[in-house]
Formats: sequence, structure tokens, C-alpha cells
Amino acid sequence: MVCKSFTQSVPFNTPIQGGLQDGMSITVCGRVWPNADALEVNLQYGSDVILHFNPRYEGGSGFVVHNTNQKGVWGEEEREYKTPVPRGQAFALQILVTQESYKVTDTYKHRMPFSWVDHIYVFGKVELNLVAFQYLAVRNIY
Ligand code: GAL
Repeated sequence: MVCKSFTQSVPFNTPIQGGLQDGMSITVCGRVWPNADALEVNLQYGSDVILHFNPRYEGGSGFVVHNTNQKGVWGEEEREYKTPVPRGQAFALQILVTQESYKVTDTYKHRMPFSWVDHIYVFGKVELNLVAFQYLAVRNIY
């Protein structure tokens, strides 16, 4: 996949027309700056954060925080103790929407309806090269 379609300024915000559907995927490509402390990719409904995908690089070991923020209140964090999006390297993230969960680098069960998602927000010290929406042609693969 050719990921470098453009370099978009960050914070990046764009509407998702018609919301998300089961079987849809969102691709986010870029490169996290070597001195970044975190990256944030949010699927939002207004100011509510339905999916917060948040790789952090504090200290030596990196991890990813997944969470939901409803009416200004964060829920319980789900942490993935891996560094799937290392600093200084190009990345291609695919967020797949299924009936039960989002599948990014880990699985995050829905806490709010995915059909409510109305925009995607990307923030951090990151060069952002692509944000694309796809409907998978083959659905019965998971
Ligand atoms: C907070 C942080 C937020 C968000 C949240 C996720 O500590 O300030 O930006 O990442 O954790 O649980």
C-alpha cells in the first residue's frame, strides 16, 4: 500500500460521513517523531471519545492505552504492553470495525455504539501521511 498521499497538519480532524459500519476499516499512516511522548488517534462523537487509541512512550517501555471518554469522564483504561507504533518509524494502522469490537493492534470491545462516530481526530508529534476509509469486500474473515 502506498501510504504517503499527503502530509497533513496535526491536530487533524475530519468528519466520517454516515458514521461507521460493521466491516469498515480506517487506515492511518504516518511517522511518529523520535522525541514524541504520545500519539492519539480518536474516533469521536462530538466531544465524546468513543475509541481513544493512545501509544505512549514515557520512560523506557512503551504501551498503548485504549479508553472511552463519555461526557468528559474517562472510563477504565485497557493497556497493551507493546510498542506497535515505535517512534521514528513509519507506521500503517488499520482500525477494523466489527459488531463486537474495534481491532487495531489489540481488540477493544465497544462501550458506545460505533454508528455514533462522526469524526476522527489525530494528535501528537507525528507526520501524518494518510487517513482513509474502506469497506472490506470480504466480510466473513473474522
Ligand atoms: C489520561 C490522559 C488522557 C487520556 C486518558 C486515557 O491520563 O490525560 O489524555 O489518555 O488518560 O485513559
